[in-house]
Amino acid sequence: MPKKILVISGSPVKNGNTATLVNWFAKGIRAKGAKIEIINAAFLKYKANGCISCRQCQKTDKYECVINDDAQPVLAKMNEAEVIVMATPLYFYGPSAQLKLVMDRMFSLFKWDNKNDTMTTRLTGKTFVLIASAYENIGLKDLERPFAITADYAGMKFKSLLVPNAGESGEVKKIPGIQAKAIAFGQKLG
Ligand SMILES: Cc1cc2nc3c(=O)[nH]c(=O)nc-3n(C[C@H](O)[C@H](O)[C@H](O)COP(=O)(O)O)c2cc1C
Repeated sequence: MPKKILVISGSPVKNGNTATLVNWFAKGIRAKGAKIEIINAAFLKYKANGCISCRQCQKTDKYECVINDDAQPVLAKMNEAEVIVMATPLYFYGPSAQLKLVMDRMFSLFKWDNKNDTMTTRLTGKTFVLIASAYENIGLKDLERPFAITADYAGMKFKSLLVPNAGESGEVKKIPGIQAKAIAFGQKLG
């Protein structure tokens, strides 16, 4: 069975730096025969602005969000994938709001039993990957932190491709060697 890789991209720019890096990464993944699906979170239709903390997901045995919108199947795919990739431009030292809307809905992929102080998730054992770029050379390590801690919390391995000095949308292509680096990064995970 080919490895299943799910990419959730969070840039509203269709052919910008995030899309370029994801496409190179996907080339590396496909070269290894793995199956990759790329979803752009910026173009999903939501019924809620992120997680509304209704806690209904905690009342069922299912690892799914009760809000029936475009995020629901993306979350279901996260349960099935072996590698979950989140790709984002750096927006004020955090991920794009478009990506964060999906991330917070990941609440439904965990079950907490606060009385017994336990947590279970089907994410354990998967690999969580961050692909991020920024105009400057400040802040990408800070952006990485919540992704790395989330991976650790869920028992996932963590890998990242951080691209500082990427310029404006489309200019990442000017960085010498970046295409080969992104393809090689994909090949390692494929
Ligand atoms: C709303 C917004 C906020 C941004 N904030 C930062 C920032 O804090 N630091 C930085 O270096 N670049 C910042 N940038 C630049 C982008 O992170 C950078 O150009 C990125 O590579 C663009 O990726 P994209 O083409 O996929 O959108 C910002 C861009 C936008 C539109």
